[in-house]
Amino acid sequence: RQNERESLLIVLNFAKTFFQEALQKSDEGKSIGLSYFRERGLTNPTIDAFELGYSFDQWDALMQEGTRRGYNRDLLEKAGLVINKESEAGGNHKVFDRFRGRVMFPIHNVSGRVIAFGARILKTDKNQPKYLNSPETTVYHKSQVLYGIYQAKQTIRQEDICYLTEGYTDVISLHQAGIKNVVASSGTSLTTEQIRLIARFTPNVTILYDGDAAGIKAALRGLDMVLEEGLNLKLLLLPDGEDPDSYVHKVGAEAFKAYVKTESKDFIDFKAGQWLAEAGDDPLKRAEGISDVCASITRIPDPLKRQTLSQRVAQVFHVSEQSVISEINRLLRKQQ
Ligand code: GTP
Ligand code: MN
Ligand code: MN
Ligand code: MN
Ligand code: MN
Repeated sequence: RQNERESLLIVLNFAKTFFQEALQKSDEGKSIGLSYFRERGLTNPTIDAFELGYSFDQWDALMQEGTRRGYNRDLLEKAGLVINKESEAGGNHKVFDRFRGRVMFPIHNVSGRVIAFGARILKTDKNQPKYLNSPETTVYHKSQVLYGIYQAKQTIRQEDICYLTEGYTDVISLHQAGIKNVVASSGTSLTTEQIRLIARFTPNVTILYDGDAAGIKAALRGLDMVLEEGLNLKLLLLPDGEDPDSYVHKVGAEAFKAYVKTESKDFIDFKAGQWLAEAGDDPLKRAEGISDVCASITRIPDPLKRQTLSQRVAQVFHVSEQSVISEINRLLRKQQ
């Protein structure tokens, strides 16, 4: 078991280097991959820090080089690098590289070993997914990993806060802009294991999600999970149509930092803001909003924190603190 893990990590490291050299040294990689990263505003130090690469637009470039180096097909397949359709009938290519003609984002574990890859298509194509990811393997459990944690962990500790984004390029562009304490859940909806990984480095999390419907939905879902783990939470949605990557390139590093500083809201203001915008004078809607904010408060394990937060809810919605406390208690009883 331990041997298989180590073999997988070694072959994944080989693949990482192969993709890096393809990006930086081959004509195809330079003209397609490197120019793609340049167009997205990434500099060489950033490309190096995240060990970005390129996969050749060929069926088996990696497999050929891998087997030449003595990594057998079975190992390449177990690492998620090669797809084996040998058992199925028909087709010319029965064993082939999973990642072809894409820019490569290695996914590192906390200690900096490569455990998987994300791979982005270069041009939008309705028939192909924008990102392809490694499958689950012995060393890669998607739900336990946060993209960027290795590059971010030191700064998360220093700054005592972690920014949580949706995507690979959000992490990379913020890092380049000098905001290095940033990670991404990368498409999977946030898991408790991912939150506990952040909690190893800091109790403070700010969710920075895309300003679209999917981002709002993901933020509201992530909110309760973060509270359940006892962490302190702030949230900020990017302006509609923007994500942290596009927005930091648009306004620049300093304006982005100022935006995060002034616009991040605690979860009560975040939720109340959404409800009050919708409810207006409608008392029933307001009651529904109060109950919804109280439901999030019941997620917090610390009774003392719950108590102080009920004062805030009362202020925000202009109701008595006693009515907020009884609503929280009613919901807590219901959960038992
Ligand atoms: P760019 O278009 O490169 O800026 O990507 P993005 O990170 O802004 O993508 P988006 O906001 O659409 O999605 C956020 C994250 O979800 C991505 O970084 C990926 O990790 C993941 N994701 C997006 N599209 C796909 C997909 O088609 N397949 C898979 N497996 N993951 C995806
Ligand atoms: Mn395992
Ligand atoms: Mn999005
Ligand atoms: Mn995005
Ligand atoms: Mn984006």
